[in-house]
Amino acid sequence: MSSIVIIGAQWGDEGKGKVVDQLADRAGMVVRYQGGNNAGHTLVVGGKKTILHLVPSGILQDDVINVIAQGVVVDPEQILREIDGLRQAGYLRDPRQLVISERAAVIMPYHIQVDLHREARLAGGKIGTTGRGIGPAYEDVIARRAVRMGDLLDEDRLRARLERVLPERNALLAWLGGDAFEADVLVERMLAFGERLRPHIGESGRLVRRALTEDMTVLFEGAQGSLLDVLHGTYPFVTSSSTLSGAVATSVGLPPTAIKRVVGVAKAYCTRVGAGPFPTELDDDVGRRLRDVGHEYGSTTGRPRRCGWLDLAALRYAHRLNGFTSLALTKLDVLTGLETLKVCVGYRCGDKELDELPAEDCDLEIAQPIYETLPGWHEDLTTARTPEDLPYAAREFIGFVERQVGVPVTVVGVGPDREHSIVIGDLLG
Ligand code: IMP
Repeated sequence: MSSIVIIGAQWGDEGKGKVVDQLADRAGMVVRYQGGNNAGHTLVVGGKKTILHLVPSGILQDDVINVIAQGVVVDPEQILREIDGLRQAGYLRDPRQLVISERAAVIMPYHIQVDLHREARLAGGKIGTTGRGIGPAYEDVIARRAVRMGDLLDEDRLRARLERVLPERNALLAWLGGDAFEADVLVERMLAFGERLRPHIGESGRLVRRALTEDMTVLFEGAQGSLLDVLHGTYPFVTSSSTLSGAVATSVGLPPTAIKRVVGVAKAYCTRVGAGPFPTELDDDVGRRLRDVGHEYGSTTGRPRRCGWLDLAALRYAHRLNGFTSLALTKLDVLTGLETLKVCVGYRCGDKELDELPAEDCDLEIAQPIYETLPGWHEDLTTARTPEDLPYAAREFIGFVERQVGVPVTVVGVGPDREHSIVIGDLLG
């Protein structure tokens, strides 16, 4: 049995989708276990770009079953859009290739409105959410009043759920300055989505457990990143779900011992979208260059990403939270052409030196990154397929990351396409 979790080790957008897509041809199943369509996974196959927000990244491989587990929040309209797009492009010919948990919570139109109106009211302290209704949808899960995917197949159940939740949501929307939703209109709309999604809605926890007992290789595809985790990230500038490897067990319904390997995906530099602490952020020509060369614009919202130097103290923190068994270092090619490269190896916080990103945001406000400077390189990396093809300085950079974090780097990304990768050893081993 091989069960591998692919986790974002930074603030999201690390290139997890590409790593999953690469590994998926050797896997039987790919599972999304948290988050929703706040995620955007860009896959480039044969020069053609596909952006997925909800559908797992294994969908481009025939014979891979893709599962959306009950820990995910699903916007039915969005997933139908993705399904239609995939079908038009010749994928997802068999509906059994995509299973959506009947217990996954639905992102309802009122969640999106609450998200947007709340952000609009937060003049100075905006979180910078993706505006997809993620936080409000998870609130309803915890408050035990969520509409779940299975409810979209049963009018009576759907009405009963709405009777419980809608008066409160409408009262909140009135206070926020939004419009009220009518139960009848919502029922009609949601049942129509449910009918179209019927072939995909089913039981997911047992399906995944069975796959693992049958020795299938299962990939668990994380969304967002470790530093956006609702409990351990840079709170309150975080997303509303647990983004860490431990969440796989609780969100899918597996024992924690089911997880055998944890791959941390990190860019060779750092980016962040939305507000919140980012100590190695560069507001200069180097930052702008990273954004331009790395095409650092959000795949969900199109917002320019904030860019900065690689933060190894943050990566060490992410490793402590997730227990990485290996690292995928992506977008190394974006650093090409810089004379020298800075990497943060710790923090100075008053008279203390810390070797991890300080978890408390008050510490983060005064924490000063401690940098080491490494030599850069000028050679084009995109044709490299083995570590030996890389210039000496790039190999040294990778070795430095490994020594500082204490985890081997087994995949290096050197360009956007599926084949622009160096795989060292066997991740699925
Ligand atoms: P929410 O998840 O839409 O509530 O947004 C909360 C924070 O997480 C914001 O700073 C978003 O920009 C960030 N965020 C959410 N999803 C992603 C993602 O997939 N990549 C990067 N940042 C994300």
